[in-house]
Amino acid sequence: MRITINQIKEMKQKGEKISMLTAYDYVTAKIVDEAGVPLILVGDSLGMVVLGYDSTIPVTLEVMLHHTKAVVRGAKNALVVGDMPFMTYQISTEEAIRNAGRFLQETGCQAVKLEGGVTVADKVKKIVDCGIPVMGHIGLTPQSINQFGGHKIQGKTPEAASRLLEDAIALDQAGAFAVVMETVPAPLAAFITKKISVPTIGIGAGIGCDGQVQVINDILGSYTDFVPKHARQYAKIAGIMSEAISQYHSEVKSGKFPTEAQSFPMDESIIKNLDK
Ligand code: KIV
Repeated sequence: MRITINQIKEMKQKGEKISMLTAYDYVTAKIVDEAGVPLILVGDSLGMVVLGYDSTIPVTLEVMLHHTKAVVRGAKNALVVGDMPFMTYQISTEEAIRNAGRFLQETGCQAVKLEGGVTVADKVKKIVDCGIPVMGHIGLTPQSINQFGGHKIQGKTPEAASRLLEDAIALDQAGAFAVVMETVPAPLAAFITKKISVPTIGIGAGIGCDGQVQVINDILGSYTDFVPKHARQYAKIAGIMSEAISQYHSEVKSGKFPTEAQSFPMDESIIKNLDK
């Protein structure tokens, strides 16, 4: 049975920690789903870890819809959240609703995520009013990286901390079912978590959040261009892949691959007849 937003909200009430991971393709989504992770985010982080851009800005709606469809095919139980990319919800409420609707209608995902607090709360409310569950995202919001001037810790001054609290409350009141908090000092994230009714999902926001989200490539060690401080590598997949690929390459060159085990036999007389 597919996890619902109500079950996610209940986890906060019961004090049950929530784990969430990104996935961008069918195979990975299937593995994450079978591991029992209840929330899968098709993050626009795919711009970096799948497509090799240096930010999430170039990611388009069509690209996100394409990958979200693949993830939905792989995830049978997890609630799949499609990340609304840059400029698909900022321009007008009408566009925000239409594009959020496209995620649910065309991909089969169950919710969308968008970045911002007070400034997008009215749009969040209108999307939720249409029956589309929304996950908020505050703190370091990567689509505004040029405004921030880099990957900086958010909410460090009294004014910034107070703005972040207002953002979280605005999203809660607008009907978001959960709020991602990115790169926020742990004590502030823990404080905000206690102040809102819906779950907070932290990334670089400490243990006091109701849940945690990570970019899957960061915890598997498959994206090595940049390893964020908030990620723990549970594996070193890039090394394993590199070793396997080098071995394949050298066995093809030396004639050790393929052997009979990877080949298909046939009646030799057919070949002899062909040569007549
Ligand atoms: O795009 C993404 O993967 C995200 C997470 C980092 C929360 O927004």
